[in-house]
Amino acid sequence: MTIATSVPAMNGQEIVDLAKKHTLFEWSAQSKVDPIPVARAKGIYFWTPEGKRFIDFNSQLMSVNIGHGDERVIQAIVEQAQTLAYANPFMATEVRARLGEKLAEITPGDIDTFFFTNGGAEANENAIKLARFYTGRHKILARYRSYHGATAGAIALTGDPRRWAVEPGMPGVVHVLDPYHGIERGWESADSSLALLEETVQLEGPNTIAAFILEPVTGTNGILIPPDGYLEGVRELCDKYGILMIADEVMSGFGRAGKWFAVNHWNIIPDLMTMAKGLTASYIPLGAVGMRQQIAHHFYNKVFYGGLTYNSHPMGCATALATIRVYEEDRLIDNARKMGVILKNLGAELQKKHRSVGAVRSIGLFGIVELVRSQKTREPLALFNGTSDEMGALGKFFRENGLYTFVRWNSFFTNPPLCINEEQMREAFSIIDRGLEITDGAVKD
Ligand SMILES: Cc1ncc(COP(=O)(O)O)c(C=O)c1O
Repeated sequence: MTIATSVPAMNGQEIVDLAKKHTLFEWSAQSKVDPIPVARAKGIYFWTPEGKRFIDFNSQLMSVNIGHGDERVIQAIVEQAQTLAYANPFMATEVRARLGEKLAEITPGDIDTFFFTNGGAEANENAIKLARFYTGRHKILARYRSYHGATAGAIALTGDPRRWAVEPGMPGVVHVLDPYHGIERGWESADSSLALLEETVQLEGPNTIAAFILEPVTGTNGILIPPDGYLEGVRELCDKYGILMIADEVMSGFGRAGKWFAVNHWNIIPDLMTMAKGLTASYIPLGAVGMRQQIAHHFYNKVFYGGLTYNSHPMGCATALATIRVYEEDRLIDNARKMGVILKNLGAELQKKHRSVGAVRSIGLFGIVELVRSQKTREPLALFNGTSDEMGALGKFFRENGLYTFVRWNSFFTNPPLCINEEQMREAFSIIDRGLEITDGAVKD
């Protein structure tokens, strides 16, 4: 396929070379990047220009939840482009109105007003603003094992090492520990984690804290499923001290965790909820921050000091509406739960069979495998924020064998599109099974 009929198609190497010559790849020294050239995609697969097929076992960046190339969404995009490609954010459009109404229906409790952005980071930026304006306080609590985006405020909220290079960042952010402390140290109970959180709140001064932002199930930092009682306890502490609870559902939302939103597993109603990724399955960029009624009411007479040229972009809104229809029509969230059971079982089999598997976690189709060098000491196969020859070799094996997923530190992710079936899941796991023979060779005991 050509981008214009007069231009001949490029092969994979030409695409890579030209993209590297004129474009900057993120989070990388440019000499180290080795991108996969992608030409087309359908369902759970994508292909290089030469026709090599990959199973997309990370839904790209855990976001193409409905799968690639859905004709219903493509048609909605075409129709919206033909009717009204853009209207400025002071205008009211039908797709904006209908998307707001639909999100009010599927989000928890009395969250019923939405501010639309271009993506997840901007949703979090605006959530912080809303929280600060509403409470009149300025500090924001966030967790160390977290990622909230790369814009100035969102990266300051981020707990993981991607924050370090841009410090000092936005003032007023206080990081707290999570219930999970890494593969060697393990988990602590909800109660002790909450006790430490409350101590931090008291020491910081409750009246200075506007909000606590957290991923209900942490994504890139390890698919961390909170112990029962933790999120309920966070909700109670926030209520006790007048702190707003911001759930960052950018990655965990839209069926990824087997329910519309991860907070639904614990019946939590956050005060503010941010979303992006699965909202449009990434066919077109769109993010949103949803707010409970009392917060929306606050801005009835008070100005909301925030705006974006592409706020409520009609193309994004039309895409989100069509994507949500696909989740519903194809019962994809039920499928995520059903396939989630298979994912869990296959993960447990891997753990029984392979000495290098230290931990397997998943909820719905949100999963990870952590690898270790020793079952006794739980020494990870790559250090925190690092890599190792064995992890590099595993990533290479997956790539050569047509399995695309994220390999990070001592882990790799298992996050297929929600439309996956059992046969496809087994195919992916058979590649993983073979790949783990490489890492088993590194285990000392
Ligand atoms: C939990 C979470 N929040 C926020 C973001 C940032 O979203 P975006 O990259 O669309 O700005 C991400 C992206 O990976 C994320 O995983």
